[in-house]
Amino acid sequence: MDIAKRRGIIYPSFEIYGGVSGFYDYGPVGIRIKQNIERIIRDYFILKENCFEIDSPVLNPEAIWVASGHVENFADKLTQCMKCGEPYRADHLVEEKTKKQADHLGIRELNELIEELGIKCPRCGGKLGEVYDYNLMFHTFIGPGMKKESAYLRPETAQTTYISFRRLWEIGRKKLPLGVFQIGKSFRNEISPRQGMIRLREFYQAEIQFFVDPEKKESEKFDDVREIEVEIITKDDEKFRISLNDAVEDEVIKTQMIAYFLGRSFQLFERMGINPKRLRFRQHKDDERAFYSSDTWDIEFISNNFGRIELVGISDRTDYDLRAHMELSGQDMNINYNGKKFIPHVIEIAYGIDRPFYCVIESCYTSEKDRKYFRFPEDVAPYSAAVFPLVNKDGLDKKALEVFNFITDNGIYAVYDKSGSIGRRYARADEIGIPKCITIDYETMENDTVTIRDRDTRRQIRVKMNEICKAL
Ligand code: GLY
Repeated sequence: MDIAKRRGIIYPSFEIYGGVSGFYDYGPVGIRIKQNIERIIRDYFILKENCFEIDSPVLNPEAIWVASGHVENFADKLTQCMKCGEPYRADHLVEEKTKKQADHLGIRELNELIEELGIKCPRCGGKLGEVYDYNLMFHTFIGPGMKKESAYLRPETAQTTYISFRRLWEIGRKKLPLGVFQIGKSFRNEISPRQGMIRLREFYQAEIQFFVDPEKKESEKFDDVREIEVEIITKDDEKFRISLNDAVEDEVIKTQMIAYFLGRSFQLFERMGINPKRLRFRQHKDDERAFYSSDTWDIEFISNNFGRIELVGISDRTDYDLRAHMELSGQDMNINYNGKKFIPHVIEIAYGIDRPFYCVIESCYTSEKDRKYFRFPEDVAPYSAAVFPLVNKDGLDKKALEVFNFITDNGIYAVYDKSGSIGRRYARADEIGIPKCITIDYETMENDTVTIRDRDTRRQIRVKMNEICKAL
């Protein structure tokens, strides 16, 4: 986090006004890493799963969230200190005390546990008040005066996709499965976000909604992920290692399509540089699952700093959402398909972006005797290369700019750095995980070759200037 703040990867927002927890800025280096993470997810779903991409408003009229059930049900369990007023998520206080998962517990159970375990306000030791449901949506208004309309900032992108289903069905020439991808911001007024960028109030999601025939929840490409073996925790807290093939055959994961996208997501996270040994698949318990879902599996990362972090949730949302919007809006969501009339079911793959971003940072952080740096995969690194003149004289700097222009003209994201000693410049590039450094030295002036240095091994090779792009 020290490097992240100092080098412009991420830093807390609104710092000069004291900051507000749950908000982070991406700095000039971090934004590149974030865009690369988004690109890995986007390219996969658009190019390999033939999804459409759409982009909807984040500010939505109330009706959407009444229909979806969020106005009534999208709540966390809040307790407040009766002495100092500090708010807490009751399940988190219980979890901290018992070291056991508590986000599935109801109001009564939480009140009883707080009493039995003698949990007091961690800030001032005061008595905690009764637990109650607290809605997480940000409420606002669209328009002025008496004409203003009640509205919410969306807490998920999903609903803004569902409400356009009919139009997308026509655009997609009426074929199932129909996959729709949306990436953008969502908002949740979290009770007390104390985990840095793991629990943000304004955050990015990449959510994919697959509209499917309720009787066809298989995947034609399951063979590609069958052999992946991972640690699984079932809703009954059974924990074991199993291949996705056996998980589906033994009905541990009942829906093949869910298993398929768990496997694909596992591959995507590995490609981003997240340590696969820290990943596990966890099924939501019956009383933990969101109100709209019949089955949900998360991929979790076990973090050194924050414990388990949910990176993606894959849910069978049945026809819950389309039916709800049909009932409130009057828009018919039934389709006629293969001689049957039905409302499609939805399999949802819901990625956070900020959390994988953090897990990439944690996984790639490398501490060696004489340097600390990020070992980002080339796909994720903020820049592919840094270009340096060995010294700023004798025409080396002019030549280095030529090289910089040549590679950036060829679409390679690079930085040009001519300040400080060459050793300092290598160290600066390593620190933010730039995989290759290109140095223009006196030999370049004689034979048009440059050195390319590898971040991880620090080995250098010499290549001809016109072959740099290929060599990179
Ligand atoms: N759309 C699912 C979620 O936001 O978790």
